[in-house]
Amino acid sequence: MSLSAQEVIRLNKEYTLFEWNPQGNYIPLPIDHAKGSCFWTTDGKRYLDFNSQLMSVNIGHGDERVNNAIKTQLDKLNFANPYAATEPRGVLGELVAKITPGNLKKSFFTLGGSEANENAIKIAKMVKGGHKILARYRGYHGGTAASMALTGDPRRWAAEPSIPGVHRIPDPYYYRCRLPISEAEFMQECLNQTEDIIKFEGAKNIAAMIMETVVGTNGIIIPSKEYMQGIRYLCDKYGIFLILDEVMCGFGRTGKWFACEHFDVVPDMMTMAKGLTSSYLPLGDCVVSEEIASYFDDHVLYAGLTYGGHAVSCAAAIAAINVMIEDNLVERAAEMGTFLAAEEDKLKSKHPSVGDVRHIGLFTIFELVKNRTTKEPLAPYNASGKEMEVMNMIKKFFNDNGLFTFVRWNSFFVNPPLSISKEELLEGLAIVDQALDIADEFVI
Ligand SMILES: Cc1ncc(COP(=O)(O)O)c(C=O)c1O
Repeated sequence: MSLSAQEVIRLNKEYTLFEWNPQGNYIPLPIDHAKGSCFWTTDGKRYLDFNSQLMSVNIGHGDERVNNAIKTQLDKLNFANPYAATEPRGVLGELVAKITPGNLKKSFFTLGGSEANENAIKIAKMVKGGHKILARYRGYHGGTAASMALTGDPRRWAAEPSIPGVHRIPDPYYYRCRLPISEAEFMQECLNQTEDIIKFEGAKNIAAMIMETVVGTNGIIIPSKEYMQGIRYLCDKYGIFLILDEVMCGFGRTGKWFACEHFDVVPDMMTMAKGLTSSYLPLGDCVVSEEIASYFDDHVLYAGLTYGGHAVSCAAAIAAINVMIEDNLVERAAEMGTFLAAEEDKLKSKHPSVGDVRHIGLFTIFELVKNRTTKEPLAPYNASGKEMEVMNMIKKFFNDNGLFTFVRWNSFFVNPPLSISKEELLEGLAIVDQALDIADEFVI
Protein backbone atom coordinates (compact mmCIF):
# COMPACT_ATOMS: atom_id res chain seq x y z
CA MET A 1 0.00 0.00 0.00
CA SER A 2 1.50 3.31 -0.96
CA LEU A 3 -0.92 6.19 -1.11
CA SER A 4 0.15 9.71 -2.01
CA ALA A 5 0.44 12.29 0.77
CA GLN A 6 -2.66 14.03 -0.55
CA GLU A 7 -4.64 10.81 -0.54
CA VAL A 8 -3.53 9.99 3.01
CA ILE A 9 -4.69 13.42 4.17
CA ARG A 10 -7.96 13.13 2.26
CA LEU A 11 -8.86 9.74 3.76
CA ASN A 12 -7.90 10.85 7.26
CA LYS A 13 -9.95 14.01 6.99
CA GLU A 14 -12.93 12.41 5.32
CA TYR A 15 -13.23 9.42 7.65
CA THR A 16 -11.62 10.35 10.96
CA LEU A 17 -11.98 13.13 13.52
CA PHE A 18 -8.90 14.98 14.78
CA GLU A 19 -8.39 15.86 18.41
CA TRP A 20 -8.82 19.33 19.90
CA ASN A 21 -9.34 21.05 16.52
CA PRO A 22 -12.06 22.48 14.34
CA GLN A 23 -11.90 20.00 11.49
CA GLY A 24 -12.57 22.22 8.46
CA ASN A 25 -9.28 23.99 7.77
CA TYR A 26 -7.11 21.57 9.70
CA ILE A 27 -4.35 19.98 7.62
CA PRO A 28 -2.72 17.04 9.40
CA LEU A 29 0.90 16.14 8.73
CA PRO A 30 0.98 12.85 6.79
CA ILE A 31 3.65 10.96 8.73
CA ASP A 32 5.07 7.91 7.01
CA HIS A 33 8.15 6.60 8.83
CA ALA A 34 10.61 7.58 11.52
CA LYS A 35 14.07 6.81 12.85
CA GLY A 36 16.03 8.22 15.79
CA SER A 37 15.22 11.92 16.21
CA CYS A 38 13.59 12.34 12.78
CA PHE A 39 10.49 11.39 10.87
CA TRP A 40 9.51 11.68 7.23
CA THR A 41 6.20 12.59 5.65
CA THR A 42 4.59 10.49 2.94
CA ASP A 43 6.00 12.84 0.31
CA GLY A 44 9.51 12.40 1.69
CA LYS A 45 10.05 15.58 3.72
CA ARG A 46 12.35 15.15 6.73
CA TYR A 47 11.42 16.66 10.08
CA LEU A 48 13.55 16.93 13.19
CA ASP A 49 11.26 15.81 16.00
CA PHE A 50 11.70 18.46 18.70
CA ASN A 51 8.64 17.26 20.60
CA SER A 52 9.16 13.46 20.65
CA GLN A 53 5.74 13.42 18.89
CA LEU A 54 3.65 14.11 22.01
CA MET A 55 6.48 14.37 24.55
CA SER A 56 6.43 10.63 24.51
CA VAL A 57 8.88 8.85 22.18
CA ASN A 58 11.59 9.17 24.83
CA ILE A 59 14.03 6.57 23.44
CA GLY A 60 13.69 7.90 19.87
CA HIS A 61 11.98 6.37 16.88
CA GLY A 62 12.34 2.93 15.37
CA ASP A 63 14.53 1.18 17.95
CA GLU A 64 14.97 -2.39 16.75
CA ARG A 65 15.29 -3.73 20.30
CA VAL A 66 11.72 -2.68 21.08
CA ASN A 67 10.38 -3.65 17.67
CA ASN A 68 11.85 -7.14 18.05
CA ALA A 69 10.49 -7.57 21.58
CA ILE A 70 7.02 -6.66 20.27
CA LYS A 71 7.28 -9.14 17.39
CA THR A 72 8.52 -11.94 19.67
CA GLN A 73 5.71 -11.43 22.17
CA LEU A 74 3.13 -11.16 19.41
CA ASP A 75 4.13 -14.55 18.02
CA LYS A 76 4.02 -16.16 21.46
CA LEU A 77 0.89 -14.67 23.04
CA ASN A 78 -0.88 -11.63 21.66
CA PHE A 79 -3.56 -11.28 24.31
CA ALA A 80 -4.65 -12.84 27.56
CA ASN A 81 -7.69 -11.81 29.59
CA PRO A 82 -6.84 -9.31 32.35
CA TYR A 83 -7.54 -11.81 35.17
CA ALA A 84 -4.67 -13.98 33.95
CA ALA A 85 -1.01 -13.87 34.97
CA THR A 86 1.45 -13.41 32.12
CA GLU A 87 5.22 -13.19 32.08
CA PRO A 88 5.41 -9.66 30.58
CA ARG A 89 2.86 -8.25 33.03
CA GLY A 90 4.72 -9.68 36.05
CA VAL A 91 8.20 -8.75 34.81
CA LEU A 92 7.06 -5.20 33.98
CA GLY A 93 5.39 -4.84 37.39
CA GLU A 94 8.65 -5.75 39.11
CA LEU A 95 10.65 -3.42 36.85
CA VAL A 96 8.34 -0.46 37.57
CA ALA A 97 8.59 -1.16 41.33
CA LYS A 98 12.40 -1.10 40.99
CA ILE A 99 12.71 2.15 39.05
CA THR A 100 10.06 4.15 40.94
CA PRO A 101 11.03 5.78 44.26
CA GLY A 102 10.11 4.78 47.82
CA ASN A 103 7.57 2.09 48.47
CA LEU A 104 5.61 2.44 45.23
CA LYS A 105 5.09 -1.19 44.47
CA LYS A 106 2.02 -2.52 42.70
CA SER A 107 0.98 -1.50 39.21
CA PHE A 108 -2.53 -1.26 37.82
CA PHE A 109 -1.95 -1.22 34.07
CA THR A 110 -4.24 0.77 31.81
CA LEU A 111 -4.28 1.81 28.16
CA GLY A 112 -2.93 5.31 28.66
CA GLY A 113 -2.52 8.23 31.01
CA SER A 114 -6.17 9.28 31.25
CA GLU A 115 -7.26 5.89 32.53
CA ALA A 116 -4.31 5.76 34.90
CA ASN A 117 -5.57 9.00 36.48
CA GLU A 118 -9.20 7.85 36.47
CA ASN A 119 -8.21 4.76 38.39
CA ALA A 120 -5.89 6.62 40.74
CA ILE A 121 -8.67 8.85 42.02
CA LYS A 122 -11.06 5.90 42.18
CA ILE A 123 -8.53 3.98 44.29
CA ALA A 124 -8.02 7.03 46.53
CA LYS A 125 -11.76 7.25 47.14
CA MET A 126 -12.05 3.51 47.83
CA VAL A 127 -9.15 3.42 50.31
CA LYS A 128 -9.45 6.77 52.05
CA GLY A 129 -13.13 7.60 51.70
CA GLY A 130 -14.20 11.17 50.91
CA HIS A 131 -15.18 12.24 47.44
CA LYS A 132 -13.25 15.47 46.93
CA ILE A 133 -10.09 15.82 44.88
CA LEU A 134 -7.76 18.81 44.82
CA ALA A 135 -6.24 19.66 41.45
CA ARG A 136 -4.83 22.74 39.69
CA TYR A 137 -5.88 25.03 36.83
CA ARG A 138 -2.63 24.70 34.94
CA GLY A 139 -2.71 20.96 34.68
CA TYR A 140 -3.77 18.37 32.13
CA HIS A 141 -4.72 14.88 33.26
CA GLY A 142 -6.46 13.36 30.24
CA GLY A 143 -9.43 13.29 27.90
CA THR A 144 -11.85 10.89 29.68
CA ALA A 145 -14.65 12.09 31.96
CA ALA A 146 -12.93 12.17 35.35
CA SER A 147 -9.46 12.99 34.00
CA MET A 148 -11.06 15.92 32.13
CA ALA A 149 -12.60 17.09 35.37
CA LEU A 150 -9.15 17.02 36.98
CA THR A 151 -7.75 18.99 34.05
CA GLY A 152 -7.80 22.71 34.70
CA ASP A 153 -7.23 24.13 31.23
CA PRO A 154 -9.96 24.97 28.68
CA ARG A 155 -9.97 21.45 27.27
CA ARG A 156 -12.16 20.72 30.30
CA TRP A 157 -14.93 23.14 29.38
CA ALA A 158 -16.74 21.03 26.78
CA ALA A 159 -16.98 18.12 29.24
CA GLU A 160 -18.72 20.22 31.91
CA PRO A 161 -20.65 19.77 34.07
CA SER A 162 -18.09 17.18 35.08
CA ILE A 163 -17.68 14.87 38.04
CA PRO A 164 -18.41 16.67 41.30
CA GLY A 165 -15.91 17.32 44.05
CA VAL A 166 -12.90 18.67 42.15
CA HIS A 167 -11.49 21.81 43.77
CA ARG A 168 -8.57 23.93 42.57
CA ILE A 169 -5.43 24.84 44.47
CA PRO A 170 -2.90 27.48 43.30
CA ASP A 171 -0.33 26.83 40.58
CA PRO A 172 3.35 27.29 41.52
CA TYR A 173 3.90 29.50 38.45
CA TYR A 174 6.31 32.14 39.67
CA TYR A 175 6.89 33.81 36.29
CA ARG A 176 3.26 34.99 36.33
CA CYS A 177 3.27 36.12 39.97
CA ARG A 178 1.98 39.71 40.13
CA LEU A 179 3.39 40.63 43.51
CA PRO A 180 6.92 41.93 44.13
CA ILE A 181 7.92 38.92 46.22
CA SER A 182 10.69 36.33 45.99
CA GLU A 183 10.17 32.89 44.53
CA ALA A 184 10.46 31.35 47.99
CA GLU A 185 7.78 33.70 49.38
CA PHE A 186 5.52 32.99 46.40
CA MET A 187 5.84 29.21 46.80
CA GLN A 188 5.09 29.51 50.53
CA GLU A 189 1.97 31.55 49.72
CA CYS A 190 0.81 28.81 47.32
CA LEU A 191 1.18 26.34 50.18
CA ASN A 192 -0.64 28.64 52.63
CA GLN A 193 -3.57 29.00 50.25
CA THR A 194 -3.59 25.25 49.62
CA GLU A 195 -3.83 24.65 53.37
CA ASP A 196 -6.71 27.13 53.60
CA ILE A 197 -8.54 25.29 50.82
CA ILE A 198 -8.04 21.95 52.62
CA LYS A 199 -9.66 23.50 55.71
CA PHE A 200 -12.50 25.08 53.73
CA GLU A 201 -13.31 21.82 51.93
CA GLY A 202 -12.80 19.66 55.05
CA ALA A 203 -9.81 17.31 55.19
CA LYS A 204 -11.99 14.30 55.88
CA ASN A 205 -13.91 14.90 52.64
CA ILE A 206 -10.76 15.01 50.51
CA ALA A 207 -9.50 11.72 49.11
CA ALA A 208 -6.52 12.98 47.13
CA MET A 209 -4.54 15.81 45.68
CA ILE A 210 -3.36 15.31 42.11
CA MET A 211 -0.77 17.29 40.19
CA GLU A 212 1.77 16.95 37.42
CA THR A 213 5.09 16.99 39.27
CA VAL A 214 6.42 19.28 36.54
CA VAL A 215 3.53 20.67 34.51
CA GLY A 216 3.72 19.72 30.83
CA THR A 217 1.38 21.18 28.21
CA ASN A 218 0.32 24.02 30.48
CA GLY A 219 3.79 25.47 30.48
CA ILE A 220 6.70 23.42 31.93
CA ILE A 221 6.02 24.87 35.35
CA ILE A 222 8.83 23.76 37.63
CA PRO A 223 8.01 23.93 41.34
CA SER A 224 10.60 24.55 44.05
CA LYS A 225 11.78 21.71 46.25
CA GLU A 226 10.26 23.51 49.24
CA TYR A 227 6.88 23.68 47.48
CA MET A 228 6.86 19.97 46.63
CA GLN A 229 7.98 19.00 50.13
CA GLY A 230 5.35 21.36 51.53
CA ILE A 231 2.68 19.61 49.46
CA ARG A 232 3.84 16.23 50.79
CA TYR A 233 3.76 17.64 54.33
CA LEU A 234 0.20 18.96 53.92
CA CYS A 235 -1.01 15.64 52.50
CA ASP A 236 0.52 13.80 55.47
CA LYS A 237 -0.77 16.32 57.99
CA TYR A 238 -4.35 16.09 56.73
CA GLY A 239 -4.41 12.41 55.70
CA ILE A 240 -4.82 13.07 51.96
CA PHE A 241 -3.28 10.85 49.28
CA LEU A 242 -0.79 12.53 46.98
CA ILE A 243 -1.08 11.42 43.35
CA LEU A 244 1.74 12.59 41.10
CA ASP A 245 0.95 12.52 37.40
CA GLU A 246 4.24 11.67 35.67
CA VAL A 247 2.61 10.75 32.37
CA MET A 248 4.64 13.44 30.59
CA CYS A 249 7.46 14.30 32.98
CA GLY A 250 8.38 10.71 33.89
CA PHE A 251 10.76 8.24 32.25
CA GLY A 252 13.89 10.33 32.09
CA ARG A 253 12.32 13.40 30.53
CA THR A 254 13.60 15.71 33.32
CA GLY A 255 17.00 14.03 33.73
CA LYS A 256 15.85 11.68 36.52
CA TRP A 257 13.78 8.55 36.11
CA PHE A 258 10.86 10.43 37.66
CA ALA A 259 10.56 14.18 38.21
CA CYS A 260 9.63 13.76 41.89
CA GLU A 261 13.21 12.59 42.54
CA HIS A 262 14.38 16.20 41.98
CA PHE A 263 12.39 17.19 45.04
CA ASP A 264 12.93 14.10 47.24
CA VAL A 265 9.19 13.55 47.36
CA VAL A 266 7.48 10.17 47.09
CA PRO A 267 3.77 10.15 46.22
CA ASP A 268 1.23 7.59 47.42
CA MET A 269 0.36 6.87 43.81
CA MET A 270 2.10 7.74 40.59
CA THR A 271 0.54 7.67 37.14
CA MET A 272 2.50 7.14 33.96
CA ALA A 273 2.07 6.36 30.24
CA LYS A 274 3.87 7.88 27.21
CA GLY A 275 7.54 7.17 28.12
CA LEU A 276 6.55 3.85 29.70
CA THR A 277 6.64 2.24 26.25
CA SER A 278 8.15 5.33 24.59
CA SER A 279 4.78 5.21 22.79
CA TYR A 280 5.71 2.13 20.75
CA LEU A 281 2.38 0.70 21.97
CA PRO A 282 -0.39 2.11 24.19
CA LEU A 283 0.06 1.50 27.91
CA GLY A 284 -0.54 3.42 31.12
CA ASP A 285 0.04 2.58 34.75
CA CYS A 286 -1.17 3.68 38.16
CA VAL A 287 1.46 2.41 40.57
CA VAL A 288 0.44 2.46 44.24
CA SER A 289 2.30 2.30 47.56
CA GLU A 290 2.55 -0.93 49.52
CA GLU A 291 0.07 0.47 52.07
CA ILE A 292 -2.55 1.23 49.44
CA ALA A 293 -1.94 -2.12 47.74
CA SER A 294 -2.41 -3.97 51.04
CA TYR A 295 -5.89 -2.45 51.45
CA PHE A 296 -6.96 -4.56 48.51
CA ASP A 297 -5.72 -7.78 50.13
CA ASP A 298 -9.21 -8.15 51.54
CA HIS A 299 -11.23 -5.53 49.65
CA VAL A 300 -12.46 -5.81 46.09
CA LEU A 301 -10.59 -3.61 43.63
CA TYR A 302 -13.50 -2.16 41.72
CA ALA A 303 -11.56 -1.47 38.54
CA GLY A 304 -10.89 -3.31 35.32
CA LEU A 305 -10.23 -2.96 31.62
CA THR A 306 -10.34 -5.58 28.88
CA TYR A 307 -6.89 -4.56 27.72
CA GLY A 308 -5.38 -4.05 31.17
CA GLY A 309 -1.85 -5.48 31.31
CA HIS A 310 -1.88 -6.23 27.58
CA ALA A 311 0.92 -8.74 27.00
CA VAL A 312 2.36 -7.11 23.89
CA SER A 313 2.25 -3.59 25.37
CA CYS A 314 3.93 -4.87 28.54
CA ALA A 315 6.66 -6.52 26.43
CA ALA A 316 7.15 -3.20 24.62
CA ALA A 317 7.47 -1.37 27.96
CA ILE A 318 10.05 -3.84 29.31
CA ALA A 319 12.12 -3.43 26.15
CA ALA A 320 11.79 0.39 26.14
CA ILE A 321 12.85 0.62 29.80
CA ASN A 322 15.79 -1.70 29.11
CA VAL A 323 16.87 0.53 26.21
CA MET A 324 16.84 3.47 28.63
CA ILE A 325 19.01 1.50 31.05
CA GLU A 326 21.41 0.09 28.40
CA ASP A 327 21.93 3.47 26.71
CA ASN A 328 22.05 5.47 29.97
CA LEU A 329 19.30 7.71 28.62
CA VAL A 330 18.34 9.20 31.97
CA GLU A 331 21.91 10.40 32.60
CA ARG A 332 22.09 11.50 29.00
CA ALA A 333 18.92 13.58 29.35
CA ALA A 334 20.47 15.34 32.35
CA GLU A 335 23.71 15.99 30.45
CA MET A 336 22.06 17.11 27.22
CA GLY A 337 19.58 19.11 29.28
CA THR A 338 22.43 21.16 30.74
CA PHE A 339 23.74 21.80 27.24
CA LEU A 340 20.26 22.68 25.91
CA ALA A 341 19.54 25.00 28.85
CA ALA A 342 22.72 26.99 28.19
CA GLU A 343 21.85 27.34 24.49
CA GLU A 344 18.28 28.35 25.29
CA ASP A 345 19.46 30.93 27.81
CA LYS A 346 21.67 32.43 25.07
CA LEU A 347 18.61 32.71 22.81
CA LYS A 348 16.71 34.40 25.62
CA SER A 349 19.47 37.02 25.98
CA LYS A 350 19.48 37.62 22.24
CA HIS A 351 15.72 37.85 21.60
CA PRO A 352 13.55 40.42 23.46
CA SER A 353 10.41 38.44 22.59
CA VAL A 354 11.48 35.66 24.95
CA GLY A 355 9.91 36.45 28.31
CA ASP A 356 11.02 33.26 29.96
CA VAL A 357 12.65 29.94 29.14
CA ARG A 358 12.11 27.11 31.55
CA HIS A 359 14.06 23.89 31.40
CA ILE A 360 14.57 20.76 33.41
CA GLY A 361 16.38 17.97 31.58
CA LEU A 362 14.98 17.75 28.06
CA PHE A 363 11.64 19.23 29.16
CA THR A 364 11.74 22.87 28.04
CA ILE A 365 9.63 25.78 26.88
CA PHE A 366 9.97 29.30 25.43
CA GLU A 367 7.31 31.70 26.66
CA LEU A 368 6.98 34.69 24.32
CA VAL A 369 5.89 38.18 25.31
CA LYS A 370 5.24 41.54 23.64
CA ASN A 371 7.17 43.24 26.37
CA ARG A 372 9.49 41.83 29.02
CA THR A 373 8.52 44.39 31.64
CA THR A 374 4.75 44.07 31.35
CA LYS A 375 5.07 40.36 30.44
CA GLU A 376 2.08 40.77 28.11
CA PRO A 377 1.89 37.42 26.27
CA LEU A 378 2.44 37.36 22.50
CA ALA A 379 -0.88 35.51 22.30
CA PRO A 380 -3.44 35.54 25.13
CA TYR A 381 -4.48 32.59 27.29
CA ASN A 382 -6.59 30.19 25.22
CA ALA A 383 -5.83 32.22 22.08
CA SER A 384 -7.44 31.26 18.78
CA GLY A 385 -8.01 32.66 15.28
CA LYS A 386 -6.52 36.11 14.69
CA GLU A 387 -5.03 36.20 18.20
CA MET A 388 -2.69 33.43 17.09
CA GLU A 389 -1.42 35.33 14.02
CA VAL A 390 2.18 35.76 15.19
CA MET A 391 2.40 32.34 16.79
CA ASN A 392 1.04 30.82 13.58
CA MET A 393 3.79 32.59 11.63
CA ILE A 394 6.32 30.94 13.95
CA LYS A 395 4.58 27.60 13.58
CA LYS A 396 4.69 27.93 9.80
CA PHE A 397 8.38 28.84 9.90
CA PHE A 398 9.12 25.71 11.94
CA ASN A 399 7.10 23.62 9.53
CA ASP A 400 8.67 25.11 6.39
CA ASN A 401 12.11 24.44 7.84
CA GLY A 402 11.42 20.84 8.88
CA LEU A 403 11.25 21.40 12.62
CA PHE A 404 8.41 19.66 14.40
CA THR A 405 7.33 21.00 17.74
CA PHE A 406 4.30 21.97 19.75
CA VAL A 407 3.19 25.63 19.60
CA ARG A 408 0.56 26.53 22.18
CA TRP A 409 -0.80 30.03 22.74
CA ASN A 410 2.27 32.19 23.48
CA SER A 411 4.68 29.30 23.98
CA PHE A 412 6.53 26.62 22.10
CA PHE A 413 8.26 23.55 23.42
CA VAL A 414 11.61 21.85 22.93
CA ASN A 415 11.21 18.26 24.13
CA PRO A 416 13.30 16.05 21.84
CA PRO A 417 13.93 12.32 22.26
CA LEU A 418 16.40 11.65 25.08
CA SER A 419 18.69 10.01 22.53
CA ILE A 420 19.11 13.21 20.46
CA SER A 421 22.67 14.23 19.51
CA LYS A 422 24.25 17.64 20.14
CA GLU A 423 24.43 18.22 16.38
CA GLU A 424 20.71 17.60 16.02
CA LEU A 425 19.95 19.90 18.95
CA LEU A 426 22.03 22.67 17.37
CA GLU A 427 20.35 22.09 14.01
CA GLY A 428 16.93 22.61 15.60
CA LEU A 429 18.01 25.54 17.74
CA ALA A 430 19.32 27.38 14.67
CA ILE A 431 15.78 27.21 13.27
CA VAL A 432 14.38 28.37 16.63
CA ASP A 433 16.83 31.30 16.55
CA GLN A 434 15.49 32.44 13.16
CA ALA A 435 11.86 31.93 14.24
CA LEU A 436 12.47 34.20 17.22
CA ASP A 437 13.55 36.96 14.81
CA ILE A 438 9.94 36.90 13.56
CA ALA A 439 8.62 37.19 17.13
CA ASP A 440 11.01 40.07 17.91
CA GLU A 441 9.31 42.16 15.21
CA PHE A 442 6.20 42.28 17.40
CA VAL A 443 7.90 43.43 20.58
CA ILE A 444 6.60 46.81 21.75
C1 LIG B 1 0.33 14.97 32.30
C2 LIG B 1 -0.61 14.14 31.50
N1 LIG B 1 -1.48 13.34 32.12
C3 LIG B 1 -2.34 12.57 31.45
C4 LIG B 1 -2.35 12.57 30.08
C5 LIG B 1 -3.34 11.71 29.34
O1 LIG B 1 -2.71 10.62 28.80
P1 LIG B 1 -3.36 9.84 27.55
O2 LIG B 1 -3.48 10.80 26.45
O3 LIG B 1 -2.36 8.73 27.31
O4 LIG B 1 -4.65 9.29 28.01
C6 LIG B 1 -1.47 13.37 29.37
C7 LIG B 1 -1.47 13.40 27.90
O5 LIG B 1 -0.89 14.22 27.26
C8 LIG B 1 -0.57 14.17 30.11
O6 LIG B 1 0.29 15.00 29.49
